[in-house]
Amino acid sequence: MKDFAGKIVFITGGASGAGLGQAKVFGKAGMRVAIADVRQEALDKAVEELVAYGLKREDILPLKVDLTNRQEYTAAADKVEEVFGGPPHLLIQTAGVNSFGPIEASTFDDFDWVMGVCLNHVVNGLLIFVPRMIKAYAHKTEFHVATTSSMGAFMAGSGTGPYSAAKAAVNNLMYSYAEALRPYGAGATVLCPGNINSNIGNAEKYRPAHLRNTGYHVSEGTMKTLNAIHATGIDPVELAEILKEGIENGRIIVLPSRDTASWKTQLRSLHETIEDYTLTAAERDAKAAARMEEMRKRFAPPAGGEGKNAPPPPPMWGVPEGGEPFGRARDDLDWVDPSKKIK
Ligand code: NAI
Repeated sequence: MKDFAGKIVFITGGASGAGLGQAKVFGKAGMRVAIADVRQEALDKAVEELVAYGLKREDILPLKVDLTNRQEYTAAADKVEEVFGGPPHLLIQTAGVNSFGPIEASTFDDFDWVMGVCLNHVVNGLLIFVPRMIKAYAHKTEFHVATTSSMGAFMAGSGTGPYSAAKAAVNNLMYSYAEALRPYGAGATVLCPGNINSNIGNAEKYRPAHLRNTGYHVSEGTMKTLNAIHATGIDPVELAEILKEGIENGRIIVLPSRDTASWKTQLRSLHETIEDYTLTAAERDAKAAARMEEMRKRFAPPAGGEGKNAPPPPPMWGVPEGGEPFGRARDDLDWVDPSKKIK
């Protein structure tokens, strides 16, 4: 998709963070912008921010909707058609939440909340909008679907289970849609950021009341730590510009980073890890030993003194003052390994 002016974009999670950055960038590109979000206050603030950014008020449609609810999502889709005169040409599903803790401590509520927003809302949007988009635009005008996933889609950790599982599923869904939409003259893109300067660290504050039975240790302190980490992330407008460029160039996966070399190294080593599962245990051990030896040589202190010309150490994400480590289990779960708890 190359032409945006005069067209319609529907952005989920558009009241904050990455979604709000997308509303700014695609709004500036001349699109009429529907932003769907569950938080009314954030929507009100976002509208003012978009107007201050240069968008026309009549080109912004805020919609308060819980996107995990199919009736509410369908009503929002109907509203866009009613107000803007048709379904979106560009659907960007960005709403998301996260919560971290040992996978074995996770509750049904943890899975239902995180996978409900990060995966099910994406499915809802695709099923609600894609048929409408095909009927309205196939072979007549460009249209496109995009989703904000995460690098977490490629890297499952023991403390990010529901989130990584949801994001991996989202990536696969978008690969399917990219292929499926080609005969209609449309495309699909999945954006996989690493760290975004957003409000996601506060997501636990608006976890729905019926899904609050978490197995994780969650406190003001854990949110403070998460917020400190996200404050170092990529700016949402910069991220949205990278997404726009990806959509314009028909890219299916967009891996945004200021430091492409480091992502490439990480992704290569991830793929190697998967390939390693095809080896026997002995072959795997031999390969691991060879890799260690290579690392030892590569990072050996330079001649002339240890550390003299050594690269600076990588920045560490510590726990800020008043913060607490996140990713731990609730204290009262007596069957969880003590090293995975705060106390
Ligand atoms: P954010 O918290 O600033 O924005 C997410 C928005 O989604 C919020 O405004 C929230 O109200 C909305 N939302 C949550 N549940 C909803 C529901 N049921 N219905 C409607 N709206 C709902 O967070 P951020 O970081 O901008 O997140 C955007 C996307 O980026 C998410 O999918 C997230 O997983 C992804 N991501 C974030 C990263 C980060 O470091 N912050 C890194 C990689 C991916």
